[in-house]
Amino acid sequence: MGVRRNFLMMIAVTVVAASCAGSPPEVPVGADGTADPVLVAGRDVFGGSCKRCHGASGGGGSGPRLHGNDFDLEFPNIGALVEVISSGRNQMPSFSSSLTEEQLDAVARYIREIL
Ligand code: HEC
Repeated sequence: MGVRRNFLMMIAVTVVAASCAGSPPEVPVGADGTADPVLVAGRDVFGGSCKRCHGASGGGGSGPRLHGNDFDLEFPNIGALVEVISSGRNQMPSFSSSLTEEQLDAVARYIREIL
């Protein structure tokens, strides 16, 4: 009985660890006790449309890393970031028809503020 329980626990722990490793970072809860809903929406977009190329935490994959000094220099303002996500560039697909303006703004804010 005890062995079986431990075995099931081990599976549960492994499943939880694996799913965390693949999820974009959570939006922290603010002073008012809730997470900014725009950033939460941005996280959903990132997980659904961006993470497969840019990595769950934006650390890079087939697409480049989405944070760090070079990135901040290239995108000093959020408008430039929204523009590249909307239009795409080389191997980076365009999202102007698959994401709404609100989603484009939300994912850009998520990248800047959370990743
Ligand atoms: C099919 C893979 C793929 C997907 C999906 C993808 N990207 Fe990219 N992304 C790339 C590649 C490759 C580049 C580099 C483009 C280039 O040659 O300049 C890039 C570049 C970028 C850049 C510019 C980075 C820089 O340093 O100049 C941003 C910002 C970006 N992607 C954001 C996103 C966001 C946000 C999403 C989801 C809405 C997304 N990407 C989805 C592959 C992808």
